[in-house]
Amino acid sequence: MMAFVNEHYLKLKAGYLFPEIGRRVRAFKEKNPKAPIIRMGIGDVTQPLAPAVIEAMHKAVDEMGRPETFKGYDDGGVGYEFLREAIRRNDFASRGAQVDLDEIFVSDGAKCDTGNIQEIFGLDNVIAVADPVYPVYVDTNVMAGRTGPGADNGQYEGIVYMPATEAIGFVPDPPKRHVDIAYLCFPNNPTGSVATQAQLARWVEYAQAERTVLFFDAAYEAYITDASIPHSIYEIPGARDVAIEFRSFSKTAGFTGVRCAFTVIPKSLKAYRKDGTAVEVRPLWNRRHCTKFNGVSYITQCGAAAAYSPEGKKQVRQTIDLYITNARTIRDRLTRLGYSVFGGTNAPYLWIKTPKGMGSWEFFDLLLTKIHVVSTPGAGFGPAGEGYMRLTAFARPAQVEEALDRFAGL
Ligand code: MLT
Repeated sequence: MMAFVNEHYLKLKAGYLFPEIGRRVRAFKEKNPKAPIIRMGIGDVTQPLAPAVIEAMHKAVDEMGRPETFKGYDDGGVGYEFLREAIRRNDFASRGAQVDLDEIFVSDGAKCDTGNIQEIFGLDNVIAVADPVYPVYVDTNVMAGRTGPGADNGQYEGIVYMPATEAIGFVPDPPKRHVDIAYLCFPNNPTGSVATQAQLARWVEYAQAERTVLFFDAAYEAYITDASIPHSIYEIPGARDVAIEFRSFSKTAGFTGVRCAFTVIPKSLKAYRKDGTAVEVRPLWNRRHCTKFNGVSYITQCGAAAAYSPEGKKQVRQTIDLYITNARTIRDRLTRLGYSVFGGTNAPYLWIKTPKGMGSWEFFDLLLTKIHVVSTPGAGFGPAGEGYMRLTAFARPAQVEEALDRFAGL
């Protein structure tokens, strides 16, 4: 007798991308402790929480300290009604999208939710992802056993990869073949591309015809500056029957270290039993959520709700605008230096062609060792990302300027 491991984990190709970058940066730092490193790799925010959020969290802490206002478990763990109502009104109703309170599940992160959602779907489903792609979508399906082994280029047998190339503006159309589940992320991580109303409508139409479920990751919707671009998949007619949407407070209200997000599953979304009987998806996620999760802390939920107060909205918008200005600065200055730069107008990510056909990791190492700027190699997101690197716009403005000065001297 012995304990067996989940062998699907052994199929995973490299370490998770960001720890691998961290490892290389630490190794460099050990040898060069004085090198003034600027981090523009992982999409982590740098600006403090909005004063309205801080104030609401302080107040919540005080409530937790008094017997008459103390709170234990968030009943059901799906989020307090005050937060779900603020979400419903501000993120959906305000854009003409119908989402009901019991369709919103508050959680501790969109990474966790996009990683866990596959659990409530069968192992036989064929999934489609873009290439390049946020690695969480792929790795969690590998862990679950929904794929065969990985090839040397990092792709796994059984997954349908949709190349998101420059020729198609980094926005793949639905595949010609059938897939059961498709992951979409707009504004896109890593390319910074956005999907138009018409492009999303084609996906909804495909999903309706093929009985495909769309996993729509909208963690970066607050960065959309073009008024014609949808923020939610539910702005597309028919999407309530085919799509799950993921949102996060991380990149909007600066909650990467606080942890709060939510997932929307409409009541009309159905998937199927093997015998073809339709099953509502929402109760399955509810069952999973209540079994494996006990809810987000009251203090955090009060902070998240404060991001929707009139003051909170203004303050959060100022921070997002600062990051958007960073993105514009990076885009303009690198373009002037002769780089081909994509994204960065409706997204906090910039997708940049490596110069002289250099490999992504080679360029990553060059930037780290020569100008001490941490980027993310495009190849880390999939083979179609080879020849690109990603920069985030989340650094402090002075650091962004400094990093760009160093690019100029490269
Ligand atoms: C990234 O850099 O891609 C982000 O950190 C993704 C995430 O929020 O997990």
